[in-house]
Amino acid sequence: MKFLLQNGHLIDPLTKLNSVESVYIDSGKVYLGIPQKKDGFKVIDCSGKIIVPGLIDAHCHLRDPGFEYKEDMSSGTQAALAGGFTSLFCMPNTIPVADNADTIEYIVDKSRQTGFVNVYPVGALTISSKGEKLADFDELKSHGAVSFSDDGHWMDNSDLMMRIMDYSAQTGTRIIQHCEDAKIAKNGVINQGEVSVKLKLPGIPSAAEYTAVFKDISLCEIMNGKLHIAHVSTKRSIEIIKQAKERSVDITCEVTPHHLILSHNDIKDDNAVYKVNPPLQSDEDRNALIEALKSGVIDIIATDHAPHADYEKDKGFLQSPFGMIGLETAFSLLYTHFVKQNIISLNDLVYKMSTKPAELFCLKNKGALKDGYDADITVIDCNEEYTIDPEYFFSKSINTPFNGKKVFGKVVYVFVGGNLSYHNGEILTDKASII
Ligand code: DOR
Ligand code: ZN
Repeated sequence: MKFLLQNGHLIDPLTKLNSVESVYIDSGKVYLGIPQKKDGFKVIDCSGKIIVPGLIDAHCHLRDPGFEYKEDMSSGTQAALAGGFTSLFCMPNTIPVADNADTIEYIVDKSRQTGFVNVYPVGALTISSKGEKLADFDELKSHGAVSFSDDGHWMDNSDLMMRIMDYSAQTGTRIIQHCEDAKIAKNGVINQGEVSVKLKLPGIPSAAEYTAVFKDISLCEIMNGKLHIAHVSTKRSIEIIKQAKERSVDITCEVTPHHLILSHNDIKDDNAVYKVNPPLQSDEDRNALIEALKSGVIDIIATDHAPHADYEKDKGFLQSPFGMIGLETAFSLLYTHFVKQNIISLNDLVYKMSTKPAELFCLKNKGALKDGYDADITVIDCNEEYTIDPEYFFSKSINTPFNGKKVFGKVVYVFVGGNLSYHNGEILTDKASII
């Protein structure tokens, strides 16, 4: 099907377009302007709405294979669509762990059969993510892995990290690290500080993150690798990353919406919907993240969508698993808290949620609305206010701390590979075959 999107406000950080324009979709590709002949094009009026390159989430947990009761390929990618995402990376902490070609192949095949957005698997760095033996990166890559990480755990073996950074330097592959020293974090379940004391819960010192960030940056620098730090959450980590960038180390990082919007002061009682790893930090940390977002020290925003069943999250901080979902709320929360408040521009938000992730992980023809690029496009009504209601989520899980929050920025249309896949709360295709 061919589409002509008219009268929308186009925001494309790559080409720096920020004006009312028309775009059209033909044979799965996007073009600026009006087609020479309009016959056969379905015209969609986008007046009063923004048209942006489809959002790209470089950090999600789809839980497939192994934990399909929390989420699966179909539900997770529908949640992505509802949030305006057209591509996502899924982390390897599944069962089996995605440390082998068969599991990567399973994810790629399943995304083709039952997925609704482009799914890019992240392979494990080490077998079973145990930090002992390297996975076969070339093999995983040839089956579709775009990057490697032991997310959920810090790959703390320095010898292996040197070899991983060497591989990164040789191949140009950007490696993702979950920086958290378990020997410092111990059995902590919440940020160590006045709130952990008040609630009598074991705390995680912020040094658990920043000492790991410091070591990994050092190894990245020695080996000339490319390193991406997942879900940065502390002020000190930001300072370390900033200094490394000033030395031209090829280091990038992401922040989550929840670390930008919430702090440990939002945790009033033993409600594990706020339990996440890294933990919600102090307001001083949160303010440093916002400053780093503005200055560009933080490169991208990723959700770390981490679904868990109700009965798992009902058990309080000591017993529940870490994690919050985020795909269906990320854009609207960020738009409401940061763009509407004039803290960052809409162009910058789209850059960090689409253009830059595509660039960091070399996703060809994605992250921009440039002639001939893939027609992955999101149309959003930024004027409409609505209330976040997990009742309407496509995710199988509802573990969000933002239930009931009023936000602006409603996703209206989502095109994936030129197919109209989502419109106003409805998924429009049975399956997408897009990679
Ligand atoms: O809160 C988190 N949940 N952080 C992680 O690093 C892992 C994730 C999960 O898999 O549930
Ligand atoms: Zn994660």
